[in-house]
Amino acid sequence: MRTLVVVPTYDERESLPVLLDGLRAAAPEVDVLVVDDASPDGTGELAARRASEDDRVHVLHRAGKGGLGAAYVAGFGWGLDRGYDVLCEMDADGSHRPEELARLLGRLAADDAPALVIGSRWVPGGRVVDWPWHRLLLSRAGNTYVRLALGIGVRDATGGFRAFRAATLRGLELAQVESHGYCFQVDMTWRVLRGGGAVAEVPITFVERAAGVSKMSRSIVAEALRKVTLWGLRHRWGQVRGLFSSR
Ligand code: GDD
Ligand code: MN
Repeated sequence: MRTLVVVPTYDERESLPVLLDGLRAAAPEVDVLVVDDASPDGTGELAARRASEDDRVHVLHRAGKGGLGAAYVAGFGWGLDRGYDVLCEMDADGSHRPEELARLLGRLAADDAPALVIGSRWVPGGRVVDWPWHRLLLSRAGNTYVRLALGIGVRDATGGFRAFRAATLRGLELAQVESHGYCFQVDMTWRVLRGGGAVAEVPITFVERAAGVSKMSRSIVAEALRKVTLWGLRHRWGQVRGLFSSR
């Protein structure tokens, strides 16, 4: 199984080297693609330097800050073009621990192999370390809303530590994914489920970043709320129409 870990970065100069070292130690067999949106702090140059020293590190430079979703779509396209079997998502800031990647990959390779494995904060055994109360509340409330609006059982649909099989991504028409911000995570979860794929969650410990700042913003939350509500209404409307047309 050739595995690519896609790591989107925007101003992660201090964090990225720690993550790359951690991955090298904990998962020496995986390749890493850093997708940098022209970070003003020089993260892109740093990634390029690391790529020149390490065959397993690659970098994709994008013209400007285009959002987490667009960065992942570009990164997945890069990986699919190069024939990787498994494509992972991981934050650059240390919140997702390299030691836990093997647990995700192990679940993806299990006998009842799911289409997508999510490293989950909100299943038994999952934890969040050092998050302020307002981020905990946002994540809990957001995930509850997603579950109710879409009628799905996933506990951490917004989580960003993931492993997809390449076939899953190929079946999704990535070019149509329009979510810019973090609702990309919900968007992908929802697309997998609607396509009939199974989503599995394995517990992770999410650790708040030690350096740099979060890129979460009010507009990212607003986009997620708007889109999830729309998807939910569309889904319910489809169910109601199905009820009548089957009579
Ligand atoms: N290339 C690129 N472009 N990378 C970006 C962008 C962007 O526009 N915005 C954010 N990133 C990168 C960051 O540099 C980091 O590596 C990763 O995406 C996550 O961003 P953070 O800003 O650290 O996110 P967070 O810690 O607030 O949010 C966490 O929780 C969210 C909600 O549960 C993450 O786990 C998210 O993935 C998750 O959706
Ligand atoms: Mn973070």
